[in-house]
Amino acid sequence: MQLPRGWYVLAASHEVKSGKPLSLRVLGRDLVFWRNEGKLVVMADRCPHRSASLSLGRLRQGCIECPFHGFRFSAEGDCKHIPETGKGAENLKVEVLACVERHGFIWHYYGSAAPSGEPPWFEELGAETGLVYSERCHTWPMHITRCVENQLDYAHLPFVHANTIGGNLDVSRAVEFELNAETIKFYPGGKKAPVSGISFIFPAFWRLAIVPGRFMQMIAFVPVDDNETRIYLRGYQNFVTLPLLADLFGMLVQAQNSVILNQDRTVVLSQKPANVMHAGDEILYQSDRGIAHFRKLWAAGLASN
Ligand code: FES
Ligand SMILES: [Fe+2]
Repeated sequence: MQLPRGWYVLAASHEVKSGKPLSLRVLGRDLVFWRNEGKLVVMADRCPHRSASLSLGRLRQGCIECPFHGFRFSAEGDCKHIPETGKGAENLKVEVLACVERHGFIWHYYGSAAPSGEPPWFEELGAETGLVYSERCHTWPMHITRCVENQLDYAHLPFVHANTIGGNLDVSRAVEFELNAETIKFYPGGKKAPVSGISFIFPAFWRLAIVPGRFMQMIAFVPVDDNETRIYLRGYQNFVTLPLLADLFGMLVQAQNSVILNQDRTVVLSQKPANVMHAGDEILYQSDRGIAHFRKLWAAGLASN
């Protein structure tokens, strides 16, 4: 899969339980996620002996054991044990992906260059704000670029979401954009302020301030492959923070989010071509300035990778 370099979420931390390997397709690859004494390991889900999926195996003595012939591989990807020799083997190696866990997500820096600094984060969603969140993951059979663009598009709101969130938005009103090399920000129907409107950190991280500082939505877009994207949608709020009530409130927020996302999904899945890098004949308008900028950044990111 071709992607611009940058930080991508691969999965949510809570999905990788201790003692149990997890198979996930991400970045166009089959990967296995597991924990060695709590520490996360992400590696190619393919045994270098005869290509069985390691994720079908079990965890033994700090290693993942292939389900086919029992070869064991360490957290560093080294073969430590072959049953028929009773020894390891230096020529059998599994590729390990460097990942970090931050804010409940597993992040990987994709690209030929070394990662620069820490994964991105929206300060306004930090733990110190007192906001609590609910999370739901949606899988769309669509290229990541169309999924991101949908969240950078406000002109669809009165049409796609006429009976939910979009009824009152006047798309002819001027919207202020702030576009730079890392971020896309804009303020549809609202006043510009540090924590307001929509903010996107390239290449795949988005948030919306519904009630700034009190009720916000965040999305991490996870590129599965050219035909699929996972959308981790979190609703942050501080109206209801008592644990059980917050869970209940979170369920209501996510139920509403699912209705809204399903409205998007029908239209977005109809867009062709799926990868916007092949959509050179589309005519963009004023409201598409964020999208035009996203395409520019995506193309430049692909070229420099
Ligand atoms: S295929 Fe994995 S041990 Fe043989
Ligand atoms: Fe939408």
